[in-house]
Amino acid sequence: MRMKDKVALVTGGASGMGAATARLFAREGAKAVVVADLLDKEGAAVVADIEKAGGRATYMHLDVTDEAQWKDAVDRTVAQHGGLDVLVNNAGISGSGEQDLYDTAAWNRLMGINATGVFLGMKYGIAAMKKGHAQGRKGGSVINLSSISGITGQGYIHVGYNASKGAVRLISKAGAAQHGKDGIRVNSVHPGLMPPMRTSGRTADPVMRAKTLKGVPLGRAGEVDEVAYAILFLASDESSYVTGAELVVDGGWTAI
Ligand SMILES: NC(=O)c1ccc[n+]([C@@H]2O[C@H](COP(=O)([O-])OP(=O)(O)OC[C@H]3O[C@@H](n4cnc5c(N)ncnc54)[C@H](O)[C@@H]3O)[C@@H](O)[C@H]2O)c1
Repeated sequence: MRMKDKVALVTGGASGMGAATARLFAREGAKAVVVADLLDKEGAAVVADIEKAGGRATYMHLDVTDEAQWKDAVDRTVAQHGGLDVLVNNAGISGSGEQDLYDTAAWNRLMGINATGVFLGMKYGIAAMKKGHAQGRKGGSVINLSSISGITGQGYIHVGYNASKGAVRLISKAGAAQHGKDGIRVNSVHPGLMPPMRTSGRTADPVMRAKTLKGVPLGRAGEVDEVAYAILFLASDESSYVTGAELVVDGGWTAI
């Protein structure tokens, strides 16, 4: 039981890799998994599945761009479950549906959800973890979902996606540098070609995906559980000396 006694909050937990992570945390014995998202129906369904399988989870509506909602979600998590041990900042939108790769409104949307959303999560999540640590809790682990787009550029994605994911990569390292003394680890995860996001455009196109796969040494797209297991490692005590790291889960795409 790799998540025994841990309270975890997963943003974007209603879909894709967030839902897979929430389910895996619950299977690994988490004390509570808070599934947070804008998609209330889908989020409640993930929680119902987890509970049916004997796990412990609750749903919270959370728009990660809204500071007041973040404060409330973290406060409620601590009040209901006694603390916060693991925060997975996973909610995000794609930049591959934009036609104009320099559209200003899209830039603001991408930076708002993908970068500011993570910043706000760190702001309130780390404050709660610090308080818990000062009161005798073990510390905490923050896992931020970046992408290989936070490491390299692509010719077919809005530049704001790369910028937002690059920001996630470095605020994770800044968090690691600043909060090691509080027993808090901060790492980033960098998936490659995965099942398309709800907001994907060109990266959901089968022709484009087949072309991309030619550059992936493992020769296939990843599966959501393959990322969830990387997140689980960073959430669990198995990674107790890992902070400020970037865990690439891309089938070798960026290795060549
Ligand atoms: N799918 C990929 O190919 C891929 C590759 C690399 C990185 N990523 C990153 O992984 C993360 C998860 O992606 P996914 O593939 O599971 O996508 P997804 O579209 O299936 O899930 C994203 C979730 O985030 C939620 N969300 C969006 N905006 C939100 C907001 N303002 N507040 C709260 N929740 C919000 C959505 O409702 C959705 O449930 C994202 O950060 C994404 O950028 C995805």
